[in-house]
Amino acid sequence: MSVNDATHATPNQAGPAAPGNPAIAEIVRAHSDWAGGLMPALHAIQHHAGYIDRAHIPMLADVFNLSTAEVHGVVSFYTDFRTTPPAGPLVQVCRAEACLSRGGDKVWNAARTAAQWAPVEVAEVFCLGNCALGPTVAANGQLHRVLDEGDIEAIVGVAVRRAQGNDPVDGPAAAAAAPVGPAGPASANRASAAVVVYVPRDAAARAAGADHVAAALAAAPGVRVVRNGSRGMLWLEPMIEVTTPSGRVAYGPVGVTDVPGLLAAGLLQGGEHPLRLGPTEQQPWLARQQRVTFGRVGVVDPLDPDDFLAHGGLAGLRAALAMQASEVVAAVTDSGLRGRGGAAFPTGIKLRTVLDTPSAQKYIVCNADEGDSGSFADRMLMEGDPFLLIEGIVVAGWAVGATEGFIYIRSEYPDAIATMGAAIATAEQRGWLTGLADDAGTTGSVGVLGSDFPFRLHLRVGAGAYICGEETALMESIEGKRGVVRAKPPLPAIAGLWGKPTVINNVLSLAALPSILADGPAAYAALGTGRSRGTQVVQIAGNVARGGIFETGFGITVRELVEDLGGGSYSGLPVAAVQVGGPLGAYLSVEQLDLPIDYESFAAAGALLGHGSMVVFDDMVDLLGMARFAMEFCAAESCGKCTPCRIGSTRGVELIDKIIAGDRRDEHIEVLMDLCEVMADASLCAMGGFTPLPVRSALALHHELHPDSGGARDSHDLSTQGATA
Ligand SMILES: Cc1cc2nc3c(=O)[nH]c(=O)nc-3n(C[C@H](O)[C@H](O)[C@H](O)COP(=O)(O)O)c2cc1C
Ligand code: SF4
Ligand code: FES
Repeated sequence: MSVNDATHATPNQAGPAAPGNPAIAEIVRAHSDWAGGLMPALHAIQHHAGYIDRAHIPMLADVFNLSTAEVHGVVSFYTDFRTTPPAGPLVQVCRAEACLSRGGDKVWNAARTAAQWAPVEVAEVFCLGNCALGPTVAANGQLHRVLDEGDIEAIVGVAVRRAQGNDPVDGPAAAAAAPVGPAGPASANRASAAVVVYVPRDAAARAAGADHVAAALAAAPGVRVVRNGSRGMLWLEPMIEVTTPSGRVAYGPVGVTDVPGLLAAGLLQGGEHPLRLGPTEQQPWLARQQRVTFGRVGVVDPLDPDDFLAHGGLAGLRAALAMQASEVVAAVTDSGLRGRGGAAFPTGIKLRTVLDTPSAQKYIVCNADEGDSGSFADRMLMEGDPFLLIEGIVVAGWAVGATEGFIYIRSEYPDAIATMGAAIATAEQRGWLTGLADDAGTTGSVGVLGSDFPFRLHLRVGAGAYICGEETALMESIEGKRGVVRAKPPLPAIAGLWGKPTVINNVLSLAALPSILADGPAAYAALGTGRSRGTQVVQIAGNVARGGIFETGFGITVRELVEDLGGGSYSGLPVAAVQVGGPLGAYLSVEQLDLPIDYESFAAAGALLGHGSMVVFDDMVDLLGMARFAMEFCAAESCGKCTPCRIGSTRGVELIDKIIAGDRRDEHIEVLMDLCEVMADASLCAMGGFTPLPVRSALALHHELHPDSGGARDSHDLSTQGATA
């Protein structure tokens, strides 16, 4: 495995990043023979020194055989990279839709004020994957749920003290610490008499205080804490589970101060307490689901390979290895699986194309960039069942004849990066993956599971660019370049990573493969409706009372998810809008919530299911402001390759500002609608092509709710919003 380290830890104090600094030279040298090594090298330099000194760019150019302009180009493209020393520890404030729906802008303003009195570096970020419990802030990579603006002061204070070495280390490393960490001696202590209490190590649970709860429980006699993934009922986090002879019993949300009372009430016997929820599997939220991909998440210790095996792990890979490659592809085709990353392309056709394209080298790329506000399923899967994703990637490799794979995870997910990195190392040790080096230190070539099929897996970390979720930009980024979108054709399946045939799939698409192989395609295809087969992992987020993950066959309606399961708004005010499918998705009105969740129904309504996120807004929502945000987001995240997106988005912000100000409103709405048409028709990719969807729908809904205060005319309702890019 090779992994670049992009956690937002406080830079170590090894000295300034001065030219000629031998430590920097060593970092660069260590990455010199990595494929696409520039990005990992930049991450490592920044991790070491806190920034990338421009004086080192000629050395980087020399080592990676690039021009200095190319290295400057990469450094300047990615938000994460900085060329000046930071004022102090990094405090990132989420300004994306789900956090905005719960007052994120107030938190952003409070954080900027904090930067005036504390030595911290405050930065905006678009989504940290904690969209059901926002507003969210990350300090040195550790997520915090912010309940009011006052919390900011405490978060900043802790970040500063930690940077000064006056507080314990935080961040993903804390979750890994014994005795409460993921590597907590689950296997070693399995025989002990202690009662097992599960405390999630999921980043959202940790943001709500799970580490403190785990530490308090671990200190109690007769308790063995196991850090599991989250069951997905995020409003109940930290939700702990105690094992009893009749099954697991859940309690939540548990704060650290609740622990003594819980123990006194007989927690270890499943005793009564106001926080007792009852048997976990009988919770209505869980009982109503059809969990396939998330079947093990929350059940197992994510980093215990034996727990994985005991719960059916590797059955899909073993079945695949017993089949011919073309039979595996046929099974995936028969299952009806379509890509879960947004475009819903049939996965079997993609695999078939790569299988049929002759090449000595092929690649599997797992798209774990998950930048959509409201989305966190990929993160939860990687943190809750990382071996499943590895298994799915190896199945895909066997199916098409690829012997090398990359997982590209966004830097905003340090917990997922740490968990996946540890899982890959374990999988290499167990022979589920081919290691980069065997015991003798030679390059590994041993086949997976004792077969003659070798497969190596690498981890790469993004650097704060939303557009790197687009598949061709992502491959550019793995190659160590700016994340600029490539024109298609050629398709990645023909000429992808380094020009070789490449399968690029979303985390959930690849994670669906093992069950398709283990249980047969018919079982998977039996779920769902029409041409939308299998299960959809819906993420309910934003201003919602009960947010989380809900996996079910296609066909459930948005209303059932938001009103019935989600319980309406978090604020208690009426729900006014739901944005489905991420920042490029449409705002649905309350009347439109009966839309069934399936690709065809969404397309027919001019909407986009995307990665399955639902962001709820109450009737305090400023829809003109959200239309402006969509354009602002596009302007900030555009790769810059084509004019309609690069320039159009900036002009769009200016136009909406004029509309908000009441400056020749009708005229400017007319121009804005023309601009949307041009962006939809002429953008190279869906970034510019779909941005008109949230803009038009937010304006139309604003007009519907406030007919006298501007917004789109009636002709610009949802049914006329289809984008063509
Ligand atoms: C602007 C933009 C952002 C995207 N972000 C993601 C992402 O974060 N994750 C993802 O899987 N796909 C994303 N996609 C879709 C990918 O381009 C691609 O369709 C997907 O990785 C294919 O995998 P699938 O077939 O399994 O869905 C994005 C597309 C665009 C245009
Ligand atoms: S639409 Fe935007 S993100 Fe996509 S290629 Fe054009 S400039 Fe780049
Ligand atoms: S964490 Fe803020 S929108 Fe996802």
